[in-house]
Amino acid sequence: MLEKRLRDLGQDHIADLLENNAFHLDPERIRQDLDAIDLDLVRQLMAGSHLYTPPRGDIHPAEVLPASFATTKEALPFIEKGTHLLESGRIAALVVAGGQGSRLGIEAPKGVVEVTPVKHKSLFQLHAEKILALNRRFGVSIPLFVMTSRVNDADTKSFFGKHSFFGLESESVHFFTQGLLPSLTPEGAFIISPEGGLFLNPDGHGGTLMALKRNRCLETMEHLGIEEIFFFQVDNPLVQVCDPLFIGLHASQGAQMSSKVVRKISFEEKVGVITLIDGKTSLVEYSDMADDLRYATDDRGEMLYWAGSIAIHMINRSFVEKITTEDLSLPYHRARKKIQTLDVAGRTNEIEGIKFETFIFDALPLAEKSVTLEVFREHEFAPVKNRSGQDSLESAMEMQSSLHRSWIEDAGVTLDPGIPVEISPLFALTREECLGREHDIPLSVEKELYLE
Ligand code: UD1
Repeated sequence: MLEKRLRDLGQDHIADLLENNAFHLDPERIRQDLDAIDLDLVRQLMAGSHLYTPPRGDIHPAEVLPASFATTKEALPFIEKGTHLLESGRIAALVVAGGQGSRLGIEAPKGVVEVTPVKHKSLFQLHAEKILALNRRFGVSIPLFVMTSRVNDADTKSFFGKHSFFGLESESVHFFTQGLLPSLTPEGAFIISPEGGLFLNPDGHGGTLMALKRNRCLETMEHLGIEEIFFFQVDNPLVQVCDPLFIGLHASQGAQMSSKVVRKISFEEKVGVITLIDGKTSLVEYSDMADDLRYATDDRGEMLYWAGSIAIHMINRSFVEKITTEDLSLPYHRARKKIQTLDVAGRTNEIEGIKFETFIFDALPLAEKSVTLEVFREHEFAPVKNRSGQDSLESAMEMQSSLHRSWIEDAGVTLDPGIPVEISPLFALTREECLGREHDIPLSVEKELYLE
């Protein structure tokens, strides 16, 4: 019985409302919401277990392979190794797209945000075209796993469907949904959602790992012969999907989970930092970083913890299988959040609630080996997070345009500085590919340059 289940969880305030037939509650929805969550886990979280605690061990900066490595002779065997793994169909791409674009002011999957400077392609289209270009280059069909959440699964699938999967084979795109957890009031009470059910939030991208298992994606990957997973966030239009050097470095070292980083632009930049804690590669999230770490400097007064994560990882499939054999106990981070709810009279009301999430990078210390590769921000990191200013749609468009402009300038073409430039992944994925097509670049354009 629904009321009893709620009372057992200490949620008498909702059980009382149900018994009094409160008009603004939807009992069927509440039942479905309870069925969708792991009640044992919820009890444990309410009792304060499994919660993240800031690191206390012996902390040092991580060992990082510098960005300059990519253009050295020593990099070549790793690029070859990565290329070989791609050509032999051993690599899958996985994008986490469970969030909404709420920070950008849109109530839709973030992947539908139109992000390119000339053609205004969506993030999903851009990522799909990069994979399509790799498929053509390597004569393969790289599977794309798209993690959604209950709030945006249907919209995401219909967006891909409406656009004919952006040229990818529909069978090679695998959608799977992450888990859910209830948001709570600071006193530990469930919150009524505006629809009359419970307010649930996606369980964070750490939920990817268990979701891969629960949705049998690991079996699909094994069946397809996938050995390594290229993991990225939907919000970065400059991501170099399935970059052969990164794949090759990670696989050659026999690493289980590896990361790409950029040099932080300021002590306060909102990126996690890769560190070594008790000898294990670990990530300290910006919101959990104590000031003595954040502002630490070396002998020359330079930032000590500069290795900012761009949330791009290589993850070994067998490693995911191993750590998800039993329930994976990644710690839960708590975050305060403004939540729309209904008050006892059924009126909409905004309150401060707490959401619980796990983060994929908390699996890093479980890896025996891990590679951290620095990359140049202007080549690979232009996240779309905010409505304006840093990490906004505008800054991401500018960064794409100036990167692509630098490619055509290297090919000997100079354009008026006000002209936006966009190079489709289907024209060239890299500067080198672009140089190889210099005869296809027009020498002058009037308004904008788009190459496809
Ligand atoms: C994130 C990283 C941070 C990194 C930065 C780089 C976290 C917690 N922090 O910060 O270390 O330096 O990106 O850009 O991720 N998502 C889901 N399901 C969820 C929650 C998030 O799929 O339950 C996806 C979102 O769609 C998005 C990504 O994960 O693609 C990042 O989430 P977000 O909350 O925006 O993290 P940031 O604070 O930007």
